[in-house]
Amino acid sequence: MHAQDRIGNSIAAIVADPILHAKWLNTFSFLEYVGFRKIVKSQRAEALSAAVLNHALEEGRHALGLKKLAVKLGGLSFDSYAPETMLCGEEAEAYFQELDGACDEAFSALPEAERAKLVYCYVTWLIERRALDVYGVYKQALGASEIARKLDGLLAEEIRHLAEVEAWLQAGDPGFPTRSKEFEAVEARLYDTFVEALARDLAQRKPLAAPVPA
Ligand SMILES: [Fe+2]
Ligand SMILES: [Fe+2]
Repeated sequence: MHAQDRIGNSIAAIVADPILHAKWLNTFSFLEYVGFRKIVKSQRAEALSAAVLNHALEEGRHALGLKKLAVKLGGLSFDSYAPETMLCGEEAEAYFQELDGACDEAFSALPEAERAKLVYCYVTWLIERRALDVYGVYKQALGASEIARKLDGLLAEEIRHLAEVEAWLQAGDPGFPTRSKEFEAVEARLYDTFVEALARDLAQRKPLAAPVPA
């Protein structure tokens, strides 16, 4: 099955169950938090621009907004990132860390400041594109609901983050046309791994949720 169909099926099953839905929201809150933490840790203060600082803070705000929705839906037990409060949290983090590692490796010969800027831009570019896809499928599954309305603001900010780094990469990296394709292939492989893990996790839960025959 194509990854996009598979995630669509998984999301449909998730939004139909409030506890799975709270775990999904918390998993995405966690990924937004990892993004926030990664930007803060990877960028040197001497070179930190207002745009990058703003990006970090917006990712932090996305993490908080999704966290609040997870707690509202699932209760106070979701007020942490404990593994049992997420769906494939470990695999979700592996997707992010391995993508970051692959980009970092590709620029390992460059001086630290240049490398940090390029890794930040490429990882952001790849993740924002994927996030827009996944949040789009998710929003469609939600229909007209409070959560869907709250996603609108988040999506608008992700679109701006993507436009900012894409403009920088097109102007600042002559290798962008070829490099972006190579990184896209790496990202697609990592994303497929996550989507498969999620589908497996949901399939394992299904027998437990099935009604007991009379
Ligand atoms: Fe975000
Ligand atoms: Fe973003």
